[in-house]
Amino acid sequence: MKFQKRTNTCGELRKEDAGKKVILNGWVATVRDLGGLIFIDLRDRYGITQLVIHPDTQSELAERSKEIKSEFVIWAKGDVRMRENPNPNIPTGLIEVHLEDFGIINKAELPPFEIIDEIGTNEEIKLKYRYLDLRRHSMQRYFIVRNQVYQVVHKYFNENNFLEVETPFLMKSTPEGARDYLVPSRIYKGRFYALPQSPQLYKQILMMSGFDRYVQIVKCFRDEDLRSDRQPEFTQIDLEMSFIEREDIIAITEGFYSRLWKEVLAIDVPAPFLRMSYNDAMNSYGSDKPDLRFGLELTDVSDIVKNSGFKVFSDTVNGGGVVKVLNAKDCAEFSRKKIDELTELAKKYGAKGIAWLKLIDGEINSPIVKFLNENEISEIKKITNLENGDLLLFSSDKWSRACTILGALRLEIAKQTGIMDSVKDKYSFSWVLDFPLLDFDEESGRYVAMHHPFTSPMDEDIHLLDTEPAKARAKAYDIVINGAEVGGGSIRIHSREIQEKMFKLLGMSNEEAELKFGFLLEALKYGAPPHGGIALGLDRTIMTLTGTENIRDVIAFPKTTSGLSLMDGAPSNVDELQLKELGLRIVE
Ligand code: AMO
Ligand code: AMP
Repeated sequence: MKFQKRTNTCGELRKEDAGKKVILNGWVATVRDLGGLIFIDLRDRYGITQLVIHPDTQSELAERSKEIKSEFVIWAKGDVRMRENPNPNIPTGLIEVHLEDFGIINKAELPPFEIIDEIGTNEEIKLKYRYLDLRRHSMQRYFIVRNQVYQVVHKYFNENNFLEVETPFLMKSTPEGARDYLVPSRIYKGRFYALPQSPQLYKQILMMSGFDRYVQIVKCFRDEDLRSDRQPEFTQIDLEMSFIEREDIIAITEGFYSRLWKEVLAIDVPAPFLRMSYNDAMNSYGSDKPDLRFGLELTDVSDIVKNSGFKVFSDTVNGGGVVKVLNAKDCAEFSRKKIDELTELAKKYGAKGIAWLKLIDGEINSPIVKFLNENEISEIKKITNLENGDLLLFSSDKWSRACTILGALRLEIAKQTGIMDSVKDKYSFSWVLDFPLLDFDEESGRYVAMHHPFTSPMDEDIHLLDTEPAKARAKAYDIVINGAEVGGGSIRIHSREIQEKMFKLLGMSNEEAELKFGFLLEALKYGAPPHGGIALGLDRTIMTLTGTENIRDVIAFPKTTSGLSLMDGAPSNVDELQLKELGLRIVE
């Protein structure tokens, strides 16, 4: 159907435009027939403009307008005039367009939910009709920010001499941490490509080619359990540099985030960002991605209770564990039920129990007070800064678990007491440094790389690889904004010998290392420069910029937490013929 092309968008007209003749195109948001006047709100991605028909003098237009329903696509031609009743809530609120003519370009069925900014419809329906959900301005704003981020990436890294290089999506399967998504080869039956979990090895090899500063906005694919901040395909701002040290990566990353916050939010983020070791972050905040916008720091009372009559505590400490405490300020009024709920949450992180102690009107109330002596109580009071109205929560466990449990309770307490709400307009940027190189995986009974197998140990810890590998620290760093890990990276191993040693430590035989990573080991023979880099999670960065906690908001066509694309129905079954060509058969 022929339409009259727009002269302006629906978000553009202001009082200065009064008197102009314009044509608008867009979607009908609402039609209100007030008898004397008919109002149509017309929407496009730029805004909403009010259109007016006068039935007394425009009977033909009025009659035709009866057919218009929400979400019809129309063109509308008319004069811009000042409104008698301005709407101060929208930028076009001072004017309206008095129609001379209009045409229906396309009709629309009644949508399954109303296209307005705030809707409560359940997410499954919104994902199924993603195109309708994305028509809402409150959703479009995420993609406007996303586009700003792309522009800053291209500009900033180009100004700093980085080259954008594309790396393959069809690569060799070299599982890093998560499972690979596999793509069967038709030509080589029984063989598979894998979708990259990250371009890690390609970017390192680009350094060996002499590209020296590489950046790419790149999709990564990981078959892992999904959460509100994880998607099976997500985007990284991936970078790598040669002839550099940790400080260079930190500086370039800080420069990027300062520039981004300035351009998108007009906020100055002072660099350098705060730095914290992995140990300190765990000890004080119970997390390797601490939210530093508020206090509620953890303390360690292991020394105080190591000989305590409370066996849960003393046995743990004597067995090499710790007793950590969270002082939940002003939470002494929490009911038994509430404390039970906190204990249930703690159990999700592996807690066997949570002991508590309240100070109300100078009196201690606690199920464990009978097991503690005066001296222990007074030392605990001092070290935790216990004041009237406070609630102490104790976790007694191995170090990392006790920290993690209380770290989770710390966030929950901050949510429940309104602390989290009170800091929601603040931004805290920090680096977590000095990570352990290895983590012992109890399930498989062997070491796994804490970051990835290509991360260099600290120079002063290299000797530990032969003696006490668990104590070796890595040249790895994470960047954290408001308690979200937005990026992680490391200085890499550029010596073939150390890389081979690392594979061995991870339980790989020479043959296995050769089979999986032979190409890397080979490349390391021909002159690898010292190099390192970082990958910044683009989606998580946009989440912090826009303040959403749901990663699906910032991805145009996301998957559900069970990995489904509800709009197009992926993953789906395929033809027998397709399977046959690939040499595959489905085993039920
Ligand atoms: P890493 O695995 O730490 O490092 O990933 C870097 C950043 O990517 C983001 N991210 C995710 N975002 C959404 N959904 C996911 N499933 C997901 N997984 C990771 C996070 C994370 O901080 N190759 C290395 C980087 C390097 O060493 O240079 C890597 O991929 O924000
Ligand atoms: P129990 O002796 O198991 O009945 O536990 C006594 C108190 O200690 C209860 O309040 C438990 O919740 C708490 N508790 C048990 N295990 C732990 C633990 N690992 N850390 C902290 N408190 C615990």
